Amino acid sequence: MEENNVIMSEPTLLVLYGSQTGTAQDTAQRIGRQAKRKWLQVQVLPLDNYNVANLISESLVVFVCATTGQGDAPDNMKNFWKFLFRKSLPAGSLSRLDCAVLGLGDSSYPKFNFVAKKLHKRLLQLGASPLLPAGLADDQHDLGADAVIDPWLTSLWEKVFALYPSLAAVTPLGEDEPLPPTYTFHFLDDVKEDRCRISTEQTVPSQSHPFPAKLVSNRRVTDTSHFQDVRHIEFDISGSRIQFGAGDVVMMYPCNAPEDVQQFCQLLRLNPEATFALRATDNTAVPARLPQPCTVRYLVETYLDIAAVPRRSFFELLSTFATNELEQDKLKEFSSAEGQTDLHSYCNQPRRTALEVLTDFPHTTTEIKVDYLLDLFPEIQPRSFSIASSLKAHPNRLQILVAVVRYKTKLYKPRQGLCSTWLASLDPAQGEVCVPLWVKKGSLRFPTDTDTPVIMVGPGTGVAPFRSALQERRAEGKPENVLFFGCRSESKDFYFKSEWGTMMEEGHLKLFTAFSRDQEEKVYVQHRVTENAELLWDLISNKHSCFYIAGNAKEMPASVCDALKDVFRQQGHMSTEDAEQMFAAMEKSGRLQSETWS
Ligand code: 2AM
Repeated sequence: MEENNVIMSEPTLLVLYGSQTGTAQDTAQRIGRQAKRKWLQVQVLPLDNYNVANLISESLVVFVCATTGQGDAPDNMKNFWKFLFRKSLPAGSLSRLDCAVLGLGDSSYPKFNFVAKKLHKRLLQLGASPLLPAGLADDQHDLGADAVIDPWLTSLWEKVFALYPSLAAVTPLGEDEPLPPTYTFHFLDDVKEDRCRISTEQTVPSQSHPFPAKLVSNRRVTDTSHFQDVRHIEFDISGSRIQFGAGDVVMMYPCNAPEDVQQFCQLLRLNPEATFALRATDNTAVPARLPQPCTVRYLVETYLDIAAVPRRSFFELLSTFATNELEQDKLKEFSSAEGQTDLHSYCNQPRRTALEVLTDFPHTTTEIKVDYLLDLFPEIQPRSFSIASSLKAHPNRLQILVAVVRYKTKLYKPRQGLCSTWLASLDPAQGEVCVPLWVKKGSLRFPTDTDTPVIMVGPGTGVAPFRSALQERRAEGKPENVLFFGCRSESKDFYFKSEWGTMMEEGHLKLFTAFSRDQEEKVYVQHRVTENAELLWDLISNKHSCFYIAGNAKEMPASVCDALKDVFRQQGHMSTEDAEQMFAAMEKSGRLQSETWS
C-alpha cells in the first residue's frame, strides 16, 4: 500500500510515437511495458492522438519517432509536427518538461533519423530538458535497431530513477510474470452478425474511418505464361467524398486469408463466431476500427497481424504462457539480447510468419489467454498503392495496378505478400466485395499550367501514377507528354498497350518502350533515355519540362538519373560538375521528382 502511495505521487510517463510501419509503435509499447514492470504509471499514444497543447503541463515524455521516405515524419504525427514548428510557440513553453527522443531510421537513406534529430533540437529550443542525447537506431546495424535501443533504454531508466529516486526503491515486477493485458474480452450471447460491422459514416474517409469501396473488377494484366501475376483493380468510390489527383496514393487495410484465420482459431481454441466487447484495463482507448461488439473472426481476419514476421516482443510475451520447459527456454532465448542472431535466422531471414511460429510451439499456443491477443499480435498496418487512374477519365472510380508478391525462402511454402495476395483473391463475380480504403497526398506533383511538358520514366508497376497523370492531363488538354515504359516482354507484361496506342494516335503521348527480354541483350528504360537525348534536352532546356521516375527496380532510379546527367553533359556541352549542379537544381525546384519502392 505504502509503495502504491509513493507511486501515485510520481508523474505519469507519457510515451508518444510517430510510426509508419509499426516498428516505432512496437518500440513505444515496449517502453510502456518496461515502465509498467517498474510500477511507473504510463500512457502510450500515437502523437496525433495526443492533444499537443497539453505538452506544456507534462513533466516526463519519451518520444519514439521513425523517419520515412526522404526524411518525412510518419502519417500519425503529421499534425503534431506542424503544430510544434509554429513560429508563435514561445521559447520557454516546455520548461517543465523532461524528455527523451528515440529515433528509428535507416542509414542507407540520406536523411538518417532526420525527424528524431529535428524533434530533439526543437524540444530543447522550446525549453525542455533532455534526459539523455537522442537515440538514433539504425536498421542497417548488423544486430538491428536493438543494438542502439537496448543501451539507450538502460540509460533512460537510470536517468528517470535519478530524477525520481522514490521509484528506484520499488521492487520491479519479475520478467516471468506477464503484465496485465491492455484489454479484456467480455464475451456476449445473442448478438446478431450484422451488428459486428463497421458503420459507414458521412465524413471524408480517413485511416480511422475508411470507406468500404465496392470492388468493380480485378483483372490479370500479364500473360498467364508470365512469371508474375499483376492485377488491374477497380473500385467504386461513389458517395464516398473521396477526391484525388495524379500522384496521390490509396491506403487500405488487407485481411488475413480465411485458411489462416481458421488455423489460428484452431491453434488457440477460439470460436470464430463468438462475440465480444473489448474493455481497456487502463486509460488506453479501444481501437476505433474494431466494432463493438465484434466477432472473433472479424478480429482475426481484419486486425491481428498473424501473417507478419513477429518481432522480439512477441517472443517475450509468448514465453510467459509456455508451460513446456523446452518451448519456454527457446522462447526466452529468442527474446533475450543474446538470442537476436538466432532469432534473425529463425524468423527474419526465411520470413517466417507469426502463425507459423505458433505451430512450432504447440504446448504454448493452447495456453494463450484471449485477453492478451492484442498485446501479442500487432495491428495489421495499412498498405499504400499509387493510384493508376484519374477521376477526370473515370468518375467515381479508383484504379490500382498491383504486382502479386510471391517469393521463395528456405521455407517450403512460398512467401506471399499479405495485401497483394488478398486483393488478387477478391472476385466481384462471387458477390459484393468491399475494401476499406482512403486516399492521401502522394509525393509526386504534376505541373498545373498547360504548357509545361512532362517526361515520365515508369518501368513495371511504376507506370501506375503516370497513367493517372496522362489521363488527367489529357482531360485538361495538356499535350506534351513523354513516357518511358519498361517490362520484360511486349507479349507478356506490357500493361495498357492499347490505351497508350490510342493516346499516341491522338498525338497526346510519345512512348518509348524497353522490352528487356525480347532480345539477347538487356534493354532498359535508361538506355532509351540515352537514345533520346536530343528530344529530352530540348524539352528540359527549352520548354522547362518536368522529369519523373517511379518504380520498384532497385538500381533503376540511380541508372536513370545517371543517364539524365549524361544527356545534360552531351547535349548541353557541360562538365560533369555543371551537369550535377543542373540535376540538383531541378531536384530542388521540384522539376525532378521520384517515387520509388522496394
Ligand atoms: P529484367 O527483369 O529483365 O532485368 C520491369 O520490372 C522492368 O524493369 C523489367 O523489364 C526489368 O528487367 C527491368 N529492370 C530490372 N532491373 C533494372 C534496372 N537496374 N534498371 C532498369 N530496368 C530494370
